[in-house]
Amino acid sequence: MSDKKRTLVTCALPYANGPVHIGHLAGVYVPADIYVRYLRMRGREVLYVCGSDEHGVPITIKARQQGCSPQDIVDRYHKIIKESFEGLGINFDIYGRTSSKIHEKNASEFFRKLYDDGKFITRESEQYYDPEAKQFLADRYIVGTCPKCGNPGAYGDQCEKCGSTLSPEELIDPHSKLSGATPIKKKTTHWYLPLQDYEPWLREWILEGHKEWRTNVYGQVKSWLDGGLQPRAVTRDLDWGVPVPVEGAEGKVLYVWFDAPIGYISNTQELLPDSWEKWWKSPDTRLIHFIGKDNIVFHCIVFPAMLKAYGDGYILPENVPANEFLNLEGDKISTSRGWAVWAHEYLKDFPGKQDVLRYVLTANAPQTADNDFSWKDFQARNNSELVAIFGNFVNRAVVLTHKYFGGKVPPCGSLLDVDKEVMSEIPALKASIEKNIEEFKFREALKDAMGIARVGNKYISDTEPWKTAKTDMERTGTILNISLQICADLAIAFEPFTPFAAKRLREMLGSVLDWEILGRPQILPAGHEIGEPELLFAKIEDDAIDAQIARLQTIKAEIEARAKAEAARQVTPQKEECTFEDFEKMDIRTATVLEAERVPKTDKLLKLTIDTGIDRRVIVSGIAEHYTPEDMVGKQICILANLKPRVIRGIESHGMILMAKQNDGKMRFVTPQEAVNNGAQVG
Ligand code: 2FM
Ligand code: ZN
Repeated sequence: MSDKKRTLVTCALPYANGPVHIGHLAGVYVPADIYVRYLRMRGREVLYVCGSDEHGVPITIKARQQGCSPQDIVDRYHKIIKESFEGLGINFDIYGRTSSKIHEKNASEFFRKLYDDGKFITRESEQYYDPEAKQFLADRYIVGTCPKCGNPGAYGDQCEKCGSTLSPEELIDPHSKLSGATPIKKKTTHWYLPLQDYEPWLREWILEGHKEWRTNVYGQVKSWLDGGLQPRAVTRDLDWGVPVPVEGAEGKVLYVWFDAPIGYISNTQELLPDSWEKWWKSPDTRLIHFIGKDNIVFHCIVFPAMLKAYGDGYILPENVPANEFLNLEGDKISTSRGWAVWAHEYLKDFPGKQDVLRYVLTANAPQTADNDFSWKDFQARNNSELVAIFGNFVNRAVVLTHKYFGGKVPPCGSLLDVDKEVMSEIPALKASIEKNIEEFKFREALKDAMGIARVGNKYISDTEPWKTAKTDMERTGTILNISLQICADLAIAFEPFTPFAAKRLREMLGSVLDWEILGRPQILPAGHEIGEPELLFAKIEDDAIDAQIARLQTIKAEIEARAKAEAARQVTPQKEECTFEDFEKMDIRTATVLEAERVPKTDKLLKLTIDTGIDRRVIVSGIAEHYTPEDMVGKQICILANLKPRVIRGIESHGMILMAKQNDGKMRFVTPQEAVNNGAQVG
């Protein structure tokens, strides 16, 4: 383990525009919590910092959608998110917010110092502007059709359907989310951090100095650096955020990705106004950022460049163990589409089962590649791992101790090979947990911890103390003594992963939380009294899982319906230009249907006899799927009268009925709003 004095652990500040979901938990918060709990058990000095990210365009969009202020939105979600973390046992030392006064002051001063030190460049550029709403448009405020997959609801920065990164220029039929108007380009001035100036230093610091970083993180950094860094705008034209603290910057705020990471510092200052600097500016502190893969560039390139530009002794991250993404039932989790399992809902639906979620998300952690969460797997891992192995083993050991030894730890007699073997396995598993956690391999570390439960469960099954009790109480005592020691090991080893169960187990055993004693013989001395048996985990029945699956099916149906409705709103692009003369060639007239009948042996055709004002004639029209003959008789319609006659199914058709075709394929005939004489020219 690192010999630095203290560790500052930060978790990505979640956007307060929605609740947190299992993807956030698996990617950032559960692994960070495992790490912090582990370090604390090992006696390390740790500060654990997080908070809500309360600026940015998605929050303003949500506020607009809900007809309230951005502050209302962040107040609502800050509370939900904070409570979700607490409910799951993720107890930060501080969970702050970037709309706080202290943060506004801090972020503002941070910008001002860089500005005064000449670390920014200014640039005038053309940005999208909504001429009706009279406002510059962030990329998220521009929607249109994705050029890659045809999704009609793609954003100007990303298509959430196919995952492509886009720019507004690429969208087909771009329009403003505010007014629906087509955006225009307008000049505006912004401040930029010239990232390219930091490139050699970043190369040396990360590419040379941190080859041990996860390959996904290292690889992403390398490809950004190899691609050549560009100046990055740190301000935006927006009315929600930290105002840009310089003259001539009215209507501009700090870009959310400039202010959010400063939030880590502000939150530390809020908690420790007098001693925050030792956490941010001491070479004795290691800084670890837990984030998701979409945050890598900001935490490995932009924020370090900001800190470097600022100077003043700020430390840089020692590691950035970013995770890949967790999918849900095979589909990408999406807050905007509602495809997620929300932490606060889980806590309501599965009270007392915080550990199960922590366990399943760690067992399926998307550490090296995207991974999947499914409710069936959740149930299986609970029932056949937590209940059948861990819980079952502990229960057998505790129940049998009560049955044969009145709840007192029996003495350990002479050891057989089977006993020595099991006792030697625990220290090896302990060492492996340590190595894995220290290398941020939490999935593997959990496997090791579960390995202890497996070893114990197998031991008690193989040695069958319920059988030896019939003939040999000393042997039975030895088996249960060893089993109880393993239970005490589990109460320590599982503390980072399933802290609620670990605590209950320690209470049941009357044992202590001390990492160093894990695997040592006789943690629980002979004669020590243990508590009453209590089930650590309960089986999850099919009903509970079926209800969750049904909920997801409803969401899926809603997503599909929304996609269909969105597609139906899409209008076929305009045809090529024509001249007035082209149009004049068409003789469009009003007419009335006199008779109508189906054309035999067809599904689509009606034979209509109509009064055109000029004559009485027959038109064969493909509208039988949309209208019955009875619907048509007596209706006034519009026809293209001078269309060259065509023979359709043996019937000569003299013209064409004008129909409007809806996006969903339905056809409606075109009719004058008020009755006019037949033969009136349309044009
Ligand atoms: O991706 C996100 O959810 C961001 N709100 C993370 C911000 S992390 C930090 F820099 F504050
Ligand atoms: Zn797409």
